[in-house]
Amino acid sequence: LIGVFDSGVGGLSVWRQLAPCLPNVPMIYLGDQAHVPYGARTGDEVRELAERCTRWLIERGCSVIVIACNTASADALHSLRVQFPKTAFVGMEPAVKPAAQHTHTGVIGVLATQVTLRGRLFASVKERFASNVTVLEQVCKEWVEAVEGWKVGRLEGWDNSSNFPTFQLVKRHVEPLLAQNADTLVLGCTHFPFLLPLIERTIDDWRATHPQASEVMVIDPAPAVARQAMRVWGEHEHTQDSASREFWTTGDAQRFDAVASVLLGYVVRSQQVVI
Ligand code: DGL
Repeated sequence: LIGVFDSGVGGLSVWRQLAPCLPNVPMIYLGDQAHVPYGARTGDEVRELAERCTRWLIERGCSVIVIACNTASADALHSLRVQFPKTAFVGMEPAVKPAAQHTHTGVIGVLATQVTLRGRLFASVKERFASNVTVLEQVCKEWVEAVEGWKVGRLEGWDNSSNFPTFQLVKRHVEPLLAQNADTLVLGCTHFPFLLPLIERTIDDWRATHPQASEVMVIDPAPAVARQAMRVWGEHEHTQDSASREFWTTGDAQRFDAVASVLLGYVVRSQQVVI
């Protein structure tokens, strides 16, 4: 059984890559929506919450756990591996390496939560892979809330006009990076790939009004994480009894279903759990 967890619906950006690749493997998704967002919490809080999610997934029989959350990976991946040595963990870190390899302007932008950007994991990734490039760090306030659907506009409005509030929010955080000549943007939070259409529209608008601006590539790490999860799954001997898919939330199940169904493009039915 593979468990995938996040503070909320963000991890579904990993789930949507992973689930179709392993159609015969049972999987459980857990969104800890009672505690979202993780990004503004202390390290101790994030570790405690990630540990609770992990324990619950292990109790349900998961032998591989994908931490589909950069914030939880930043603070808890190391301690979870020590604490649960029999479980195989797949964690996330901002995709700075491919960004540093790709950039032509020598400037990359990393969009993430505060916890991720201030963590040791990110510092080490920068040191290892980005010593020759300028790394602009952007804490994207309220993006997580926007994707969770409970602040600044509603999901249903995504395809709407450019005065849609979430578009303004996206613009506010992306434009300063473009103005500083970033040509590669890293989505360092699993909620953010769902904002990709708005990020791309911001880039298109910017390039239309700044003819000298370079082309911009946006990196969603979810496909690479899904590949890594498949490798890890393959390295373990498992008995697979069903291809069941379960969705759980520590928040409101109806709310989860409404948002997750929009994000995944199919009807999702979740159950609530208190952990
Ligand atoms: N989706 C998460 C991440 O990848 C966490 C966002 C949050 O809860 O603040 O960082």
